[in-house]
Amino acid sequence: MKKLLLTGGARLNGTVEIGGSKNGCLAIMAGALLGKGETVLRGVPSIGDVHTMIEVLRALGVKCEMEAQGLLRIDATEISKTEAPYELVKKMRASFSVLGPVLARKGYAKVPMPGGCDIGARPIDFHVKGIQALGAIINIDHGFVEAEAEQLIGTQIYLNFPSAGATQHIMTTACLAKGVTTIYNAAAEPEVVALAAFLNRMGAKIEGAGTTTVRIEGVEELRGTEFAMIPDRMEAGTFAVATTITRGDVRIENIVPEDVEPFVLKLREVGAIVDVYDSAMRVRCNERPIATDIMTMPHPGFPTDLQQPFTAMLSIAQGTSLVTENVYERRFKYINELIRMGADIKQEGRTAVINGVPKLTGAQVAATDLRAGAALVCAALAAEGQSEVSGLEHIERGYEDLVGKLRSLGANINLVTDEQEKEAVCV
Ligand code: UD1
Repeated sequence: MKKLLLTGGARLNGTVEIGGSKNGCLAIMAGALLGKGETVLRGVPSIGDVHTMIEVLRALGVKCEMEAQGLLRIDATEISKTEAPYELVKKMRASFSVLGPVLARKGYAKVPMPGGCDIGARPIDFHVKGIQALGAIINIDHGFVEAEAEQLIGTQIYLNFPSAGATQHIMTTACLAKGVTTIYNAAAEPEVVALAAFLNRMGAKIEGAGTTTVRIEGVEELRGTEFAMIPDRMEAGTFAVATTITRGDVRIENIVPEDVEPFVLKLREVGAIVDVYDSAMRVRCNERPIATDIMTMPHPGFPTDLQQPFTAMLSIAQGTSLVTENVYERRFKYINELIRMGADIKQEGRTAVINGVPKLTGAQVAATDLRAGAALVCAALAAEGQSEVSGLEHIERGYEDLVGKLRSLGANINLVTDEQEKEAVCV
């Protein structure tokens, strides 16, 4: 088992380069299944979830090779299998999104009900309803979703909540449908916009991505293309929090200014000085953060994925903050770990009441999901003394070389295995 050993107190300083968007990448990899010919993706992060998706594509008989420096080649000219294996899909919810594209290409697809981070109920009803509305016959049995349709037909779909995953999945599936599909109350996340841009490069006809109404005019066929991944705004937000919580001064490179706006405004509220440039931002903080309230919302609201790192930061703020989680009700499980580090947080339903304490103290803590792991790392960077963060496999799902990047900024952080620790004790 791998874990992180951190000694808090070092102010982060220097420059860090943000990688390609995890969520954008996963959706685009599924979208690449629609195209005949080779697709070349650049700026793909080498993270656990991307490797899982590579395995899913390969299990469908699709050629998929990760080369050096984030270059990923996918050739879905042939999709020789129509069933995705349980062992892979249970690891990662995003892999469910291969159902629609495989169905659109092959007329049939069978994918297990998905797994993923345990952050609350994560149903797939919007996905299933959307694909059904496009004319597919769906059968859910023995933990699998089976979909069948000779020809998908364009239709109008209203989402009860602007789900990022459902918007992406339905948008992708509708590209090869006959006629026009309109998705109302669609998610407007930058990753939805990136997917639409990618699919349009493949020959799709999508309009309105980034607004609440997305219109997809079906086409006969899509072809492979080249595409550069958008930056990961969640990774940028994590480094911004790590900088603020350690009262550091860091230049964060490879960002899209409008995509980071929701959390930049909150960083300024807590007292950080944030300068945003064309494709970079500088974050500085000299004081203890000031309390503020946060409510997570679909984009352009405050992103739920940054709720956890921000809560870690607010746990040492001056004053009381209220953080309300409107997207995933169980995304507060890590609070008990922060309390073990000295935080004063009470959960009341969907809201965490955070009474800022002057300092956190190092402790042994466990990451229960990806962003919880990021929050605990941020807390440990600011805590007095040593912390041990286990559950590293969650962090590695979504952060590329987090340890290396934090070390380059001066953090005292080491990755150790149980074996190494035993050796160290023997010595
Ligand atoms: C994506 C992101 C995740 C982010 C989330 C919200 C990926 C791989 N993951 O997840 O990091 O936290 O968006 O921005 O891109 N819902 C339903 N039925 C459905 C689908 C969703 O009720 O069929 C609900 C969910 O329970 C949740 C809300 O809709 O309450 C939003 O979920 P959604 O936007 O779909 O999240 P994901 O796409 O799974």
